[in-house]
Amino acid sequence: MNCRTTLPSWQALVADARALESTHMKDLFAGDEQRFSQYSARCGAILLDYSKNLINETVVEHLLQLAEETELAHWRDKMMSGAIVNPTEGRAVLHTALRDRSETAIEVEGENIAPLISDELAKMKAFTEGVREGRWLGYTGKAMTDVVSIGIGGSNLGPLMVTEALQDYCDQSLKMHYVSNVDGAQISQVLAKLNPATTLFVISSKTFTTAETMTNAATARRWLMDQSSGEAAPGKHFVAISSNIEKAQSFGIESDNIFSMWDWVGGRYSLWSAIGLPIALSLGFEHFEALLEGAHEMDCHFAETPLRQNLPVMLALIGVWNSNFLGMNAQAILPYDQNLHRLPAYLQQADMESNGKSTNWAGDPVPYTTGPIIWGEVGINGQHAFYQLLHQGKTVVPADFIGSVNSNNPLPGHHENLMANFFAQSQAMMTGVDAASVRAQLKASGASEEDIERLVSHKVHKGNRPTNTLLMDRLTPHNVGALVAMYEHKIFAQGIIWQICSFDQWGVELGKVLAKAIEPELAPDAETGHHDCSTRNLVEHFKAVQASAKNTSPKL
Ligand code: F6P
Repeated sequence: MNCRTTLPSWQALVADARALESTHMKDLFAGDEQRFSQYSARCGAILLDYSKNLINETVVEHLLQLAEETELAHWRDKMMSGAIVNPTEGRAVLHTALRDRSETAIEVEGENIAPLISDELAKMKAFTEGVREGRWLGYTGKAMTDVVSIGIGGSNLGPLMVTEALQDYCDQSLKMHYVSNVDGAQISQVLAKLNPATTLFVISSKTFTTAETMTNAATARRWLMDQSSGEAAPGKHFVAISSNIEKAQSFGIESDNIFSMWDWVGGRYSLWSAIGLPIALSLGFEHFEALLEGAHEMDCHFAETPLRQNLPVMLALIGVWNSNFLGMNAQAILPYDQNLHRLPAYLQQADMESNGKSTNWAGDPVPYTTGPIIWGEVGINGQHAFYQLLHQGKTVVPADFIGSVNSNNPLPGHHENLMANFFAQSQAMMTGVDAASVRAQLKASGASEEDIERLVSHKVHKGNRPTNTLLMDRLTPHNVGALVAMYEHKIFAQGIIWQICSFDQWGVELGKVLAKAIEPELAPDAETGHHDCSTRNLVEHFKAVQASAKNTSPKL
């Protein structure tokens, strides 16, 4: 297998990066009124402006050549047609099929999966409507008022992020609560507010073996039985989403109340499957369908649009340029929308669990950086917290600014203020401000010559910091679907360019195995096992402090 670094396009890009070393983006903008139209693209209601990156026509041509030389389009078509693109687990990857409502036949191991998807959606619809319309009754004959979704990682972050993102579409017929952490604090706080007679638990776990989820599910069942003095029938209060039907059944969930997931849906790509049930319960099935339709629109765009106008492809290529050729290994996600506040956390899993790899398809080490560190926060809050580093820090962090033209909460003055900041921040990161301008501003404000000289170097922003701007017409279920699908395809495209297996996650296994061994050692009388001296002493310290605290009140 040829290493990507030997490709002509890769070598050309290395040379391009050297040639642009002393170029400033503001000079590229100066006098070039075409830069925006040249370096922007649109899919439906989403506009991507990538002009505020250190690119020129040569770079873009070489990036597109890289996409050609790595056969990106061929791999995309393979993924979407059901080929095994998760080689280490021997699985197809078909989250795109989940949102194709046309029922086009698509085969996995000789079976047409389109009818499976339609049937599951029909089951979700019937169930969602039954619960939301008060026809699903609990053990006392009352309708449900609250839903607790128990799951972690891909079985939590997607539904949680989307439910939050689309709060403005929620009619409050059901209150949604999410529990992911095995720290008892989270589930205790959630359960303390609830009435067992009107609470429905949705246990989401592809494997139905994830320790955190199983512990929380057992606690929920115990709570239901204790609170109902043993009267509650768990069948009326528990449903599950899993590909492990047997395990869900042996937990006590009735087979009619188990929604399917399949091997060809990766956990972090699963919000479009029955894992999205909490979204449908919270927002109504029609909004869940709109989410699927928006994602499908992006799938078609990804599949059919020439690479240069293709949003996920261009985002992927720009990301590769920034990290592999300009040496920037982080990526900030900055939504200027309160309701998108969980998007950075969601994309952390989607991107870092997919592309945080060091081994190529053949099992050899890759000699270049792969997935960047994804982090972020609602932009306007970030401005008053970490943007200092984004503007003047030594580490340059490329950023995605995400906002909407129309607000769902148009209070006087709010959206204009928010969006003025949205536009200003990427402008500031691009242009910066030089010493001459700082001197002129200080002079105009009446500062003394001495103060000017003392302050000038502190106030200079070098600028030249790359950003993408994603501007949606409005935050709707459709557009959230398209936005998320866009990032999914970006991640996939980067995985192909880096020759890594984006759909497995072997790196998370070791910690789970070690935790399993350590857990019994934490019992008061248990022997501490053979560990390195740091781990051993930490465990011993934990047990010693716990033993000495045994007779004191927990809050002292
Ligand atoms: O530990 C990582 C992981 O396997 C993720 O990939 C997955 O989304 C999460 O755990 C939850 O897994 P499950 O849905 O099987 O409980």
